[in-house]
Amino acid sequence: MNAADLSSQAPLLQVRAVSKRYEARTVLERVTFGIGRGEIVSLVGPSGCGKSTLLRVLAGLDRDFEGDILLDGLAQLGPSPRLGVIFQEPRLLPWLSVADNIAFSAGPRRGADPRVGQLLDEVGLAGTGAALPKQLSGGMAQRVALARGLFSQPDLLLLDEPFSAVDAMTRMRLQDLLLSLTRAHGTAALIVTHDLDEALYLSDRVLLLNTAGQRGAGRLVRDIDVAARHPRDRRDRALAGVRNELLDGMGETRNAYA
Ligand SMILES: Nc1ncnc2c1ncn2[C@@H]1O[C@H](COP(=O)(O)OP(=O)(O)OP(=O)(O)O)[C@@H](O)[C@H]1O
Ligand SMILES: [Mg+2]
Repeated sequence: MNAADLSSQAPLLQVRAVSKRYEARTVLERVTFGIGRGEIVSLVGPSGCGKSTLLRVLAGLDRDFEGDILLDGLAQLGPSPRLGVIFQEPRLLPWLSVADNIAFSAGPRRGADPRVGQLLDEVGLAGTGAALPKQLSGGMAQRVALARGLFSQPDLLLLDEPFSAVDAMTRMRLQDLLLSLTRAHGTAALIVTHDLDEALYLSDRVLLLNTAGQRGAGRLVRDIDVAARHPRDRRDRALAGVRNELLDGMGETRNAYA
């Protein structure tokens, strides 16, 4: 079998035995999982267990770790246009227009690219391309960040608590927007969230990271399929069952896994 056949069979992303230390302290230990093409996966776990650290490693923003990260079977050695990254705060450049921010990965003033107009339409912000970031509400700015994350047509979006700074109604609208965007673009997503209900509403799978390893290093302690079909009812009892399993996993002491 040639390399092309092999890579077409591999999951989109393979994370193999990733460990990460900050000086003497191990923050992540032997983290292994995969993400399939178009799959929506949430990563939950208590504060400080290493979720953002893991996301930065996967995004190629931190290369000081042990283990392998493979995209389509090929080792990832740094940031890639095939990975779109979205943080808790929109991180827009204040001196650039909305359109130029969206197209920034192509160069500093590329907002005239026809894909920008299309993305603005898709995120519900048609006509705002010339606006400056300071003219936007928090929810609008995060829509722009979503459009920017999709501009390079990535295979995988990595999102770190993307909706935690907006009010509850805006958050629900942004969750639905994320689902429709990932579906329309065939993009997989890994979403770090503190909100179990958000994880259950959005995801095909939920990963639970907990401080389970030696000296409290973060390890994956659950990998749970969420079988409910979309559109989901947030009050679905089947989701409540998964929620209880996650709460059990959060409550387990680290010694049980050490
Ligand atoms: N640059 C750094 N240098 C040293 N320690 C760090 C650094 N960044 C994070 N840490 C430590 O690594 C651990 C994991 O941090 P991380 O930010 O990944 O947690 P998290 O799961 O994202 O938490 P939260 O849910 O609060 O965002 C924490 O104990 C943190 O103090
Ligand atoms: Mg974090």
